[in-house]
Amino acid sequence: MIVHVFDSAKSASQAAAAMFAAAILKKPDAVLGLATGSTPIETYRQLVKWHKEGMLDFSRSTSFNLDEYVGLGADHPCGYRYFMQENLFDHINMRETFVPNGLAPNLKAEAKRYDRMIEKAGGIDIQFLGLGNNGHIGFNEPSDRFHYGTQVVELTRSTIEANRRFFESEDQVPRQAISLGTGGIMNARQIVLAAFGKGKAQAVKKMIKGDVDPQVQASILKLHPNAVILLDQEAASLL
Ligand code: GLP
Repeated sequence: MIVHVFDSAKSASQAAAAMFAAAILKKPDAVLGLATGSTPIETYRQLVKWHKEGMLDFSRSTSFNLDEYVGLGADHPCGYRYFMQENLFDHINMRETFVPNGLAPNLKAEAKRYDRMIEKAGGIDIQFLGLGNNGHIGFNEPSDRFHYGTQVVELTRSTIEANRRFFESEDQVPRQAISLGTGGIMNARQIVLAAFGKGKAQAVKKMIKGDVDPQVQASILKLHPNAVILLDQEAASLL
């Protein structure tokens, strides 16, 4: 695990964008693993900028998003498909983009289908991750074990509270999501995790300094051969 601490979240975000740009330049048909939340927004802005300036071509790349809320369709403004269209996909030329279908009538089958599609695409070359306040990655909540494949997860109170800011009221936050498993995340050939702000400092400390522990799902990234952690000063303040 390589840890970089930057003066600002903006510089860290640009560094993340640089890693994605390098991956695409080296392998134009790269399979990108993408994330939502506030953390990747500036990285996506930079990728869009480079695309518009003619530096980055996504026309041979494919992307798979980490997760989606159960019950929210592609046109729901709080859903992750909508977020991705707004912040990235509508502004670039990605060949194909995949987000789990939170409206699938059979969610277990959808989870299996998603894993099969990633496999068929050749696996994820570079995976972007944010970090939950409770150390989750994707929507893999603290647990007594690490989950392997894509699955339906029950969101914890702390995640519902943390994500409440995107919804009109707390009871509108879905209680379930469909998420790539921590094992699926670990299969990515390269991982880029970014975390910004004081609210993430405790989770960052546990991820980097603590034991590998499923109560802090991100702590397993210590075992990944190619994981880069990009932090701002506040997120790194307890290290
Ligand atoms: C959600 C997402 C995660 C994300 C986390 C942090 O729970 N499922 O993938 O990393 O939020 O969000 P933020 O970047 O807004 O802090």
